[in-house]
Amino acid sequence: MRNRRQEDDVTATSAHGVPVLVETRRRLAEMREEFRADGRAVALVPTMGALHDGHRALIRHARERADVVAVSIFLNPRQFLPGEDFDRYPRTLDTDMDACRAEGVDVVFAPQRAEVYPDEPWVTVNPGPMADVLEGERRPGHFDGVLLVVLKLFNIVRPDLAVFGEKDAQQLALIRRMVADLDVPVAIEAVPTVREADGLALSSRNVHLSPAERRSALSLVRALRAGLAEAGNGAAAVLKAGRAVLAEAAALDPPVRTDYLELVEPRTFRIAEADASGPAVLAVAATVGATRLIDNVPVVLGGAARS
Ligand code: PAF
Repeated sequence: MRNRRQEDDVTATSAHGVPVLVETRRRLAEMREEFRADGRAVALVPTMGALHDGHRALIRHARERADVVAVSIFLNPRQFLPGEDFDRYPRTLDTDMDACRAEGVDVVFAPQRAEVYPDEPWVTVNPGPMADVLEGERRPGHFDGVLLVVLKLFNIVRPDLAVFGEKDAQQLALIRRMVADLDVPVAIEAVPTVREADGLALSSRNVHLSPAERRSALSLVRALRAGLAEAGNGAAAVLKAGRAVLAEAAALDPPVRTDYLELVEPRTFRIAEADASGPAVLAVAATVGATRLIDNVPVVLGGAARS
């Protein structure tokens, strides 16, 4: 039995620290009008559920920045390609509600698919050239699905600001670009990647890693840190150091199968030129066992690096 309060009055339940679970866009729109009438600023944290400490950092940021914190939990089928892990993606609404309660979330919007997609959309969002590289190249159509659902969530919730993680750096850059290009009236704020003590970036997909796979998966952050240490020596040195770590990781048991390790320009995600200097993103994607992982670090090429 789900432990939750449904479609309740936000003021009454928030006073008891219990987030209101809203499943319909109609009820959400009513609540939004109440917040607007009261002049309360609303922050949205869009998620696909399976909340972990990385999401909690996003929620805390939202809590600091707005009067009302709304978390959306929607496992968006349109951003998964055929054969990807939509079916095995963790679905944990009860524990997600516990996390939201602990973080003082006011509203959890957890719609069914038909609430978000009452009809198959004919008009969609084209992510443009930024989706031609890295994740967009490996997962064609993924960012079309991400931007479509994010834009729909913005239009349904109409937040004043929305918070995303730097862990999905290309997604974040694309959302910023969509908001700028389409004049979407929402401020986008970013929160740095949250890591385990040993450096593994938090991800909802980490639950699929066996202990041995988890050990191999640490090669991703090792590669990023090896690259970061070479930032002062330029792009080629960064890539050489990072790729050397991944070459060794290919021989681990279980092996790390690298998709890419690339340096990109942070706003456009264009591949950095060999003589690039200044801010860049060092991004990696690899599969360990059946689990595909991504990670990245900001670097400053030819200058001081931050870890
Ligand atoms: O980052 C995610 O969890 C998803 O891509 C998002 C932004 C919630 C859209 O489904």
